[in-house]
Amino acid sequence: MTIAYLNGDYLPLEQASISPMDRGFLFGDGIYEVIPSYGGRFVGFDRHFDRLTAGLSSISLKSPFSAVALKNLLEELINANATLDTSGGLGLYLQVTRGTSPKRNHQFPNSITPTVFAFTFDIPPPIAGNVDKAHTFSVVTGRDLRWQRCNIKSVSLLGNVLHMMEGVAEGAEEILLFNERDELTEASTSNVFIVRDGSIRTPNLDHQKLGGITRNMLVDMLRKHSTLSVIEGTVSRADVSSADEVWLTSSTKEISPVVQIDGELVGAGRPGPVWSEAQTLFDRYRFDY
Ligand SMILES: Cc1ncc(COP(=O)(O)O)c(C=O)c1O
Repeated sequence: MTIAYLNGDYLPLEQASISPMDRGFLFGDGIYEVIPSYGGRFVGFDRHFDRLTAGLSSISLKSPFSAVALKNLLEELINANATLDTSGGLGLYLQVTRGTSPKRNHQFPNSITPTVFAFTFDIPPPIAGNVDKAHTFSVVTGRDLRWQRCNIKSVSLLGNVLHMMEGVAEGAEEILLFNERDELTEASTSNVFIVRDGSIRTPNLDHQKLGGITRNMLVDMLRKHSTLSVIEGTVSRADVSSADEVWLTSSTKEISPVVQIDGELVGAGRPGPVWSEAQTLFDRYRFDY
């Protein structure tokens, strides 16, 4: 049985309920985070907290907790779920919405109490750059039709959901998205990296992409601990089509190799050597960044 946290209480997930007048439900008016943990240790906690705080501030919602208070809340949630099989890790989903108001008005109500909800879910164990254990992805491509504020980790994810379903309809597990200039933005639930001639590239961050914590940690690790060059800049469709390797990154996937795009193999159609180096680096330093 999964134990959830809702507005100060720890309770079985099935018993957690909110009002249908919650603005998270009515408008998608809220911010969320997904924080991975292994053996009770968080990955990138400070970065997740900073992104959450920045996201809340960008929608004029005061953060309901300090970093210490949030860490305590999540540690208690991990402990409450300690009876679960945690041979892998635990993902921590956290959502803060503006709260419940008696009327449905687009305009923010003056003073309402935010709703805070969290629950845990299983994530796979780290694979330590082992090619045989990698979860590889076949993806398709599409035009990015989401809104112009994808840097905000908003719970309004219908655009991402519809893009994911576009991929699923074509038998893919993820979809790479390109903007109106045919430049790579990200994927529906991940950031994207490519490798060409030994050099690593990832789209620079702006309003069309979420600043992924895994992406940012990986860029920092590669720059500090490897001799590989990492460029943050424009990645065109031609760059993607001619890449030797393509990776997806997210808190639950870490660094996952893409082996097929729109039916064409990427490189040799299996995880490449630069991916193996990058994931090995991530395994070594995931708790230090
Ligand atoms: C649209 C999108 N981009 C990128 C990411 C990766 O972010 P992170 O590494 O913080 O999980 C996610 C993760 O959910 C996402 O939904």
